Amino acid sequence: MTTKIDILAGLASHFATVEDEMARALATDEPRVAELLAQLGGFHGKMLRPALVLLVAQTLGEVSGDHLRLAAALEMIHTATLIHDDMIDEGDTRRGMPTAHVRHGTAVAVLLGDYFYTHAFDLVARMDRTWVTTRLTGTTNVVCRGELQQMCARRDLDLGEDEYERIIHAKTAALCELAGELGAVAGTPAQRQAAAEYGRCCGMAFQIVDDCLDFSTDPEKVGKTLATDIERGRLTLPIIRALRRAGAGRDELGRQLLGVANSNDVALIRKRIVELGGIAEALTAARAYVARAKTSLGGLPAGDGRNRLAELADFIVSREF
Ligand code: IPE
Ligand code: IPE
Ligand code: MG
Ligand code: MG
Repeated sequence: MTTKIDILAGLASHFATVEDEMARALATDEPRVAELLAQLGGFHGKMLRPALVLLVAQTLGEVSGDHLRLAAALEMIHTATLIHDDMIDEGDTRRGMPTAHVRHGTAVAVLLGDYFYTHAFDLVARMDRTWVTTRLTGTTNVVCRGELQQMCARRDLDLGEDEYERIIHAKTAALCELAGELGAVAGTPAQRQAAAEYGRCCGMAFQIVDDCLDFSTDPEKVGKTLATDIERGRLTLPIIRALRRAGAGRDELGRQLLGVANSNDVALIRKRIVELGGIAEALTAARAYVARAKTSLGGLPAGDGRNRLAELADFIVSREF
């Protein structure tokens, strides 16, 4: 498959194999379900988690069949979280396409998300490496806990930055951390740790930038429904920083955030958060994570693979989709 990210062009043939692994793992002889899965054929994302596995693997040597299967399993878990997340957030566009619950209804979307989770676990369990299976299931526990925690924290204007960081670590960075770690599955413990830390920092930066992109006014470019954080009362870093900078206007901004009723309200809040420097501050925090990600690359051998990993970290903050 082709990728929209230039620096990942060299991974195109590996991505195609990852797609094949996913298709094989999800396949069924039952025509009705097979038909449903076939309709997801063009449902490709940026393949960031497979890219982390594969680039770390290349940095340490060769990409093996295990790496490709692990990359497929991580992308399947990621896809499951998106199918469910879009229902929760009532997002109607994802990867430039109508979301699963819009196309097939919520009942099918719940089951489809479950189907992706269980087949990812099955794929990894068949590899018969207990610690890898345990890491994958444990990380999925963390992702689900993070999504739950985020739901429970909705509309809490006092949400602290420390808890925000714990939430985004759980819902997003933990899976990226695991991608780095599993890319180094054949490496030394120190290399695994460096790759995991790289993945964790990339994941933190990635979610902070995603939280900034939620303020974009160009859903076509981003490829998904935007402003869902504002509409659902979700306190993300740009909002937390803007509230802090609002001074005497904090209560007023808080009332606006909790009273969003239409697209006009969303536009006013968007403008206010930008004026208060919330986005600029959040992007500075994301850049700091990218710097930490690059520092941790010092624990991996120098070379082309490592250079690509540094470029990928930079892409995470410069991206517009
Ligand atoms: C979206 O992830 C969900 C978040 C963790 C912010 P991606 O932006 O990696 O989604 P795809 O896979 O490219 O569609
Ligand atoms: C979702 O975060 C992260 C997941 C683990 C699914 P978001 O809700 O910010 O992701 P988008 O913006 O819908 O892609
Ligand atoms: Mg969402
Ligand atoms: Mg988002």
